Amino acid sequence: MIRVVFNQKGGVGKSSITANLAAVAAHSGKRTLVVDLDPQCNSSQYLLSDFFDGQEHDQSIARFFSDSLKFKLMDKDPQEYVYKTDYDNLDVLPADEELYDLQVKLEAKHKIYKLRDGLNKLRERYDEIYVDTPPAFNFFTLSALIGADSVLIPFDCDDFSRRALFNLLDNVEETRQDHNASLRLEGIVVNQFLPQARLPKKVVQDLIDEGLPVFETKLSSSVKMRESHDEAKPLIYLAPKHKLTQQFVELYKELQTA
Ligand SMILES: Nc1ncnc2c1ncn2[C@@H]1O[C@H](COP(=O)(O)OP(=O)(O)O)[C@@H](O)[C@H]1O
Ligand SMILES: [Mg+2]
Repeated sequence: MIRVVFNQKGGVGKSSITANLAAVAAHSGKRTLVVDLDPQCNSSQYLLSDFFDGQEHDQSIARFFSDSLKFKLMDKDPQEYVYKTDYDNLDVLPADEELYDLQVKLEAKHKIYKLRDGLNKLRERYDEIYVDTPPAFNFFTLSALIGADSVLIPFDCDDFSRRALFNLLDNVEETRQDHNASLRLEGIVVNQFLPQARLPKKVVQDLIDEGLPVFETKLSSSVKMRESHDEAKPLIYLAPKHKLTQQFVELYKELQTA
């Protein structure tokens, strides 16, 4: 099962949700891989505590893509780019800054199906793959949507985001029609939800009324998330009993039944 976590807006919780859902999956015994497509490397740094950005890596998704430009290396097993984390069952295919420079070259050479082909090899070895994406609808995000089975959309409840959401859903639908008929909009993940406030509740209800799949479980806002990033330790390991952690566990259960 390959899920892509996608929203063109930054700061809505893509990396936090990718890393924490993956950690919950791994913790429950699933062989789990995170693929980081964002050159800002947030989820790579979050899950690989000794990972440095600002340098090129021999093993990374950028290296996977740059090798795909040298077609003689094309048959290298994508597993060779993957790192193990300190956590059982949890591996990462990290991003690095080289992705910025690669995009134009990859587009020029029409490498839009390379990630899908790589993911299809990796899916035999993992029960679950989570793909983190940059805050843009670009070559890398499109590659991920083409290679994935489902899309999770983090959503931060503001009205501006609601309007941007329709544009985003159009992009998903267009990708489905043009490239990946089996792509499914699995659901919208409401993040940093304030249950006491009136506006977020209304915004979420509007989405439901429009027939969009919104997960029952809403993620609270908590300083634990920041702490978890700072310590490079996913919530399920940092604070297993914390409210936000338990919400991730609930959300993960919803994914199993959806
Ligand atoms: N549920 C949450 N509670 C508190 N802070 C959060 C929560 N989710 C995300 N954040 C914080 O918001 C910021 C953006 O989150 P991030 O996952 O990096 O978003 P994105 O990947 O979409 O840019 C980060 O500083 C993160 O720690
Ligand atoms: Mg991010």
